[in-house]
Amino acid sequence: MTLFSKLPDVGTTIFTVMSKLATDCNAINLAQGFPGFDCYPYLHDLVNYYVSEGYNQYAPMSGVPIFKQRIAEKTSRVYGVDFKAESEVTVVSGATEALFAAVTAVVNKGDEVILLEPCYDSYAPAVVLNGGVPVYVSLRLPDFSVDWDKVKSAITDKTRLIMVNTPHNPCGYVWTQKDLDTLAELIQDREIYIVSDEVYEHITFDGREHLPMFSHPVLKERTFACGSFGKTFHITGWKIGYCLAPEKLTAEFRKIHQFLTFSTATPLQYALADFMMEPSRYLHLNAFYNRKRDLFCRGLMKTDFEFTPAQGSFFQLVSYGHLSQESDYDLAVRMTKQLGVASIPVSVFYHDKTDHKMLRFCFAKEDEVLEKALELLQGSIF
Ligand SMILES: Cc1ncc(COP(=O)(O)O)c(C=O)c1O
Repeated sequence: MTLFSKLPDVGTTIFTVMSKLATDCNAINLAQGFPGFDCYPYLHDLVNYYVSEGYNQYAPMSGVPIFKQRIAEKTSRVYGVDFKAESEVTVVSGATEALFAAVTAVVNKGDEVILLEPCYDSYAPAVVLNGGVPVYVSLRLPDFSVDWDKVKSAITDKTRLIMVNTPHNPCGYVWTQKDLDTLAELIQDREIYIVSDEVYEHITFDGREHLPMFSHPVLKERTFACGSFGKTFHITGWKIGYCLAPEKLTAEFRKIHQFLTFSTATPLQYALADFMMEPSRYLHLNAFYNRKRDLFCRGLMKTDFEFTPAQGSFFQLVSYGHLSQESDYDLAVRMTKQLGVASIPVSVFYHDKTDHKMLRFCFAKEDEVLEKALELLQGSIF
């Protein structure tokens, strides 16, 4: 038998490769994007409580009502935008599921989907598996802002969806009001939807505000906003997130979600519903990571790398093109082996592996780990 692969070009992800290499070399892993510290102990207590009280059977398909209510309340409190808990909020098993379900809900065979590159690795496979055609538009260096002229030229009668991500992984760019306004202007007279990946919504720096797509009235009516509690509460292993979308879009989204996972872990939903009642538990995150970004950037200044401090997310990019023309992949591997610090080559976030001679470091780690990594990065590698 010959199994015909639907994703012939997809192999083991770079995140797995670099994390394994980091383990094999006993290197500090600043490659994969997960926090190197635990969540609040109170969250453990809440999960233990709900598990031991017997909240262990299937949750309702779209989420536990009190949890959806709390997500809607948080959205209203933080952004001043209202969503109906019953018909516009859906709890999912991680933002990855939300992204996949939203793409599946809108993309039909032959539809074009604009992807702004570099981008998170799950977008293109979701498009392709649904028979869609990814249309790649590069973000503009040096800050990785959106090149709106290029987006405009990429829009055709077949464009059905644009996928956006703010704050951005891997580049840390945070969308401005002008970005939202321009996007709205470009698509308002067309049947184009938005899947917006906002998993780093609470991680912006230097006083920048995160502007969700749904904060713009034109965009709100066509946006699936995908969020994740993994990034916000240091629980990436729980795989729990949500999708906010207008009622009609949510109805289609739920048809897919229903047969992808049906529902998400019950005790986790109840625990998070209690935990998120205190807004400081997510609002402190900007300051928490701003300090870590500053610590990391101060140390980077003593290395040979060039960089601009990230505007948001928990990633910092560095460039080395002024020193060497070695491929970013080779350098990342060599640095892991020789200096003992693992990173991610930015070329992996481009479909054609465009190499700007840049590496991505995750600074969501304990201060001592960051300090040790910075000390090693000051060693000679070029
Ligand atoms: C930009 C982006 N989107 C989505 C995800 C996935 O989120 P989740 O773990 O909730 O599926 C990640 C995780 O790294 C991410 O960086």
